[in-house]
Amino acid sequence: MTILVIGSGGREHALVWKIAKSRRIKKIFCAPGNPGIAQLAECVSIKTEDINSLREFAIKEKIGLAVVGPELPLTSGIVDSFEEKGLKIFGPSKKASEIEGSKVFAKDLMQTYGIPTANYKVFKNPKDAKDYIKGHSLPLVIKADGLAAGKGVIICKTREDAIDAIKLIMEKKAFGEAGDRVIVEEFLKGEEVSFFAITDGKTVLSLPPCQDHKAIFDGDKGPNTGGMGAYSPTPIITAKLKQEIMSRIMIPTVKAMEKEGRPYKGVLYAGLMITKDGPRVLEYNCRFGDPETQPIMMRLKNDIVDVLSAAVEERLNKIKLNCDNKLALCVVMASKGYPGDYEKGKEIKGIEEASNLKDVVVFHAGTTLNGDKLVTAGGRVLGVTAMGVGIKRAINKAYEAVSRIKWEGVHYRKDIGEKAIK
Ligand code: AMP
Ligand code: GLY
Repeated sequence: MTILVIGSGGREHALVWKIAKSRRIKKIFCAPGNPGIAQLAECVSIKTEDINSLREFAIKEKIGLAVVGPELPLTSGIVDSFEEKGLKIFGPSKKASEIEGSKVFAKDLMQTYGIPTANYKVFKNPKDAKDYIKGHSLPLVIKADGLAAGKGVIICKTREDAIDAIKLIMEKKAFGEAGDRVIVEEFLKGEEVSFFAITDGKTVLSLPPCQDHKAIFDGDKGPNTGGMGAYSPTPIITAKLKQEIMSRIMIPTVKAMEKEGRPYKGVLYAGLMITKDGPRVLEYNCRFGDPETQPIMMRLKNDIVDVLSAAVEERLNKIKLNCDNKLALCVVMASKGYPGDYEKGKEIKGIEEASNLKDVVVFHAGTTLNGDKLVTAGGRVLGVTAMGVGIKRAINKAYEAVSRIKWEGVHYRKDIGEKAIK
């Protein structure tokens, strides 16, 4: 089979790496890909948002399965567009992707179907939102309804902060139309976990639970990023809790989407807060997580093409997922300044040496070639991922690999996985 992977980050490199191990593969294309992906697949320079060109390419190359990484093509309807032409594509339809595309839709869905989440109220005009905030206890979480590149959630410790957040989202329109509606939500305390399930709309299979590290600095300090590291499995999710998450959250969500006339196929990613009263959904995503996919793909033992095809063809009931018992841990190496402004074009050295270590894979994200030199080209540059028996070994191995890689102005967290020890 010929496969097309859409995207260019560490997540897509991990997907391509895993797909390349499939016995069913003739050829892999990736649009647009990156230099790491180019070692395993043919990269084609089509942007992830250019759905028409991607579809034409898929028809021309007789793509047997397309796999979508990022949310934007999904919420823009790439799955509907491919399916119209009889192409097989892994991911939710436009209507089903609204579970990530609109936080108001997601919250209302959870409320209607009794799926545990934080209490909230939706506002269409800033005055009502501000009046509500004045009478509410703190802290509060203010969320823009639509996609905001991971910046649309603001945690507010004071009323002034909350009112400023309303102004930023609804009056200054910092995220455009995404801020036409806001959610004012109760603040939840606990440990955050990323929970993934693959579904064909009927069968729901859980992938190993994972913990992301969102903040830029050690000890969860500083602004949130796309994710600075992840490991799987996380000890926070016991077998019992996993069952509870499946029966109270993942399966009811897939059933709810069916009832709403938006059957959900693809990966369902629930961002959860494990509170003292049990798991609560913070948000849903309609795609694989980045960097969570890097450790998950390293642990998954199945032929991924079998799994993704079965999801598309609605025969997931025939599949059982198997994972390596070892722990996998990914340390993201980023450009200094990220998630704010940063410089690009710094030469990266030592990847080969790091990759030669046993059970280590260096996934590329923001890299590019300048002549024959590999240079930085984004905020998150590499995801150095290692497997080990137990958390300490996985940490040591990942950081040993990290220590071999250098560029001017590299930044990474030194505490990925430490929560699992505590
Ligand atoms: P979201 O994009 O909705 O996952 O929010 C981004 C981040 O904001 C989450 O990963 C949490 O760290 C935090 N967050 C979102 N909602 C809440 C909440 N109700 N209580 C506490 N933290 C939250
Ligand atoms: N790691 C967070 C995300 O993929 O949204």
